[in-house]
Amino acid sequence: MTAILQNITMQLGIQQIQRHIFLCCDQTKPKCCNRETGLEAWDYLKKRLRELDLAATHGIFRSKVNCLQICHQGPIALVYPEGIWYHSCSPENLETIIQQHLLLNQPVESLIFCRHPLPAPIDIDSGST
Ligand code: FES
Repeated sequence: MTAILQNITMQLGIQQIQRHIFLCCDQTKPKCCNRETGLEAWDYLKKRLRELDLAATHGIFRSKVNCLQICHQGPIALVYPEGIWYHSCSPENLETIIQQHLLLNQPVESLIFCRHPLPAPIDIDSGST
């Protein structure tokens, strides 16, 4: 790894990530919601995670995704490692997800349409097959 990548990794706190929320917005072809609705949701999510300092205090990261392939009833969000998929992620619903799921570990049942946690990681360093 280059020194630049090491520095970026450290500055972002990548090694401290506990949860990662992906939000479909600013799509090339907006389908699950219109572009303005997606950007409003993204701006709200970014603002609230920053205000609550959730990256530093809870290891919560966020990423904007061009399409999560659901393309219906968005904005769509996905939270890992639980693999919980949320529909209708308006600013109001994102606030509920932040308060209940991200801060209290209580997923928001009324907004979930799928659960699929990823399987345990494969030990890729062991070389076994
Ligand atoms: S456009 Fe949002 S999931 Fe496809």
